Amino acid sequence: MWVLLINKLYKERKNMNFNYAERMSKLKASEIREILKVTQRPEIISFAGGLPAPELFPVEAIKEVNRIVLEEDGENALQYATTEGYDPLRKWCANRMNKRLGTNFDYENILITHGSQQALDLSGKVFLNKGDIVLCESPTYLAAISAFKAYECDFIEVSTDDDGMITSELENILKTTKEVKVIYVIPEFQNPTGRTWSVERRKALAELATKYNVVVIEDNPYGELRFEGETLPSVKSFDKSGHTLCLGTFSKIFCPGYRIGWIAGDKDIIQKYVLVKQCTDIQCNTIAQRDIAKYLELYDIDKHIEKIREVYRQRRNLAIETMKKEFPKDAKFTRPQGGLFMWVELPKEINARDLLEKCLERNVAFVPGGSFFPNGGHENTFRINFSNMPNDKIVKGIKCIGEILKEYV
Ligand SMILES: Cc1ncc(COP(=O)(O)O)c(C=O)c1O
Repeated sequence: MWVLLINKLYKERKNMNFNYAERMSKLKASEIREILKVTQRPEIISFAGGLPAPELFPVEAIKEVNRIVLEEDGENALQYATTEGYDPLRKWCANRMNKRLGTNFDYENILITHGSQQALDLSGKVFLNKGDIVLCESPTYLAAISAFKAYECDFIEVSTDDDGMITSELENILKTTKEVKVIYVIPEFQNPTGRTWSVERRKALAELATKYNVVVIEDNPYGELRFEGETLPSVKSFDKSGHTLCLGTFSKIFCPGYRIGWIAGDKDIIQKYVLVKQCTDIQCNTIAQRDIAKYLELYDIDKHIEKIREVYRQRRNLAIETMKKEFPKDAKFTRPQGGLFMWVELPKEINARDLLEKCLERNVAFVPGGSFFPNGGHENTFRINFSNMPNDKIVKGIKCIGEILKEYV
């Protein structure tokens, strides 16, 4: 009897049509997250996720700093704390950016966030109304598209080449489109293409943002992972009017599991972010912030980053060598100077989703490029992550994609 009643209630509940907020109709499951579910299987060679190499996570050091943090000040490490974040960590972020990127921040310019992904979401909350326009590189980071879409904005994609966003096209759009609120860019080893912006384009962007009074969100999760060439000044370093906000993260130089990143900008804008973060989650995980700060105090992160760079440099080289050998000549791919990703462009008639299906049958995965274009199209492209697979799997996986690609030509 009870069982029947419960079953009936369950069925009724399942059939209910919930009256969701309008924004929910704009959101769909991230294609990468869906592919990642398949790639959990151990037999899969995955070039899909943007995953760092887990064998490089400093597990022993983390055990040690976590023990010290709890011994030294366990009660405060487990207590609520300020929304802005743990001051020693904020100071480290400001100093690091000033040293590397030509900025001029102090700790009050920094808000610690749960990954740079949260900074993207908070940016939507702070700046976007329904119908506002976000300008972005074409293509751009998939989860930024989703984060902004939740605030019911529209996107205009700005064309890119090997030097980044084409700033003459950007200016034409800015001249004619008054609804533009935000320009979102990833100038270092971009996700998904791996490309890096020239210094001239960075400077031009900062000047245009001032001229047209638009906010720039400069997302930089990969800048520390440069394999060759010199570190370049950030867009922010050319910003004289405070229009640029910078995003940073510990995900790729330490580990993503702590979910700690930051946003840096003028103090009055950061205070707006503090207000919305209070509504979202009050503050970032206290002990995670303190563990990272203790690691930065006791260990040499530059040495650690050098180790990561070395492994990724070598994996990039291997991926490129293998693609040169195994891919048909009309498949074009980028040669990133750092970061985690390469971008492949196939002849127009080949659909990368169709290619993925065939590759999955042989246990190889990547992300079809169409998802990185907010307004669709470009189905003849795909993204390869080279940081997460060991050498033998890089060779085997790329060979397999090459063999299947040759069936198309
Ligand atoms: C361009 C870009 N921005 C932001 C993120 C989010 O990173 P996290 O939230 O781990 O800091 C990623 C992650 O892959 C990314 O590629």
